[in-house]
Amino acid sequence: MALTTIDLSPSIGTQVIADRAALLDGSLAGELRALLEQRGVLLIRGADMTDEEQLQFARTLGTPRNEHGTDITKVSSDKTKSPIFAEYTEGTYYFHFDDTYMEYPALASVLRARALAPEGGQTEFANTYAIYDSLSPKEQRTVDGLTAVHSQETIQRKAFPNPTEWQLDLWGERKIPATTHPLVWLHRTGRKSLLLGETIRDVPGLPKPEGDALIRRLLDLAEKPAYKYRHEWEVGDILIWDNTGTMHRVVPFDLACGRELQRVKLAGEEPITAVTMAAA
Ligand SMILES: [Fe+2]
Repeated sequence: MALTTIDLSPSIGTQVIADRAALLDGSLAGELRALLEQRGVLLIRGADMTDEEQLQFARTLGTPRNEHGTDITKVSSDKTKSPIFAEYTEGTYYFHFDDTYMEYPALASVLRARALAPEGGQTEFANTYAIYDSLSPKEQRTVDGLTAVHSQETIQRKAFPNPTEWQLDLWGERKIPATTHPLVWLHRTGRKSLLLGETIRDVPGLPKPEGDALIRRLLDLAEKPAYKYRHEWEVGDILIWDNTGTMHRVVPFDLACGRELQRVKLAGEEPITAVTMAAA
């Protein structure tokens, strides 16, 4: 059976309706990968997979990256179940790409909802291909030549403006060094996405106020409904997002409510290539 698609917003998010067996045996993987790259977020509503099925499905799309000793990770904010994730939850209330501290950020994440927050806890996504495309040619030329310094500490400090020494040992730049990346990612496909996020501390080469203003302006574009999709979770949902052209954040929720997702992260497949590197 071919897959059926329903777009969830103009530039980001598509619901996929497909035969369960076809999802698991990989026969739709090529189509799903292409759709993911175009639409940023794919939803399979009510897929209701087990851990094993979620892993099997994820393996049809890419290579699961082993994190914390496992290919499938519980995303929980409950400190008793997952103390490290709990520490990072509040930092995820701000738009970001995962893994900007790595040369190869994750290609995508495959999430499954197990328990929902009674209020909040939705995940929001913004398509940074579309945001780049919305810029004028002059603005595109400007950002094409820029880099940005990302750090976990920058985004965590938005949640914890006065961090403790324990927190700085966990996520401070002394533990997770800052990394510099092109602001525009030129993909192998030839398409360009902005590698944006509240993880950005500085824009080298620009005076601090100018760099901050530029990043704020770009981040503000992500608030436009045209580029954004807010996912209202239902238990059993499988949601995949392209971490190379989509920012995400979580709507704040009660950290003691028991919200729980299962995540498989797919390993990155291409380094972040700058437009200027390609032109050289
Ligand atoms: Fe994230």
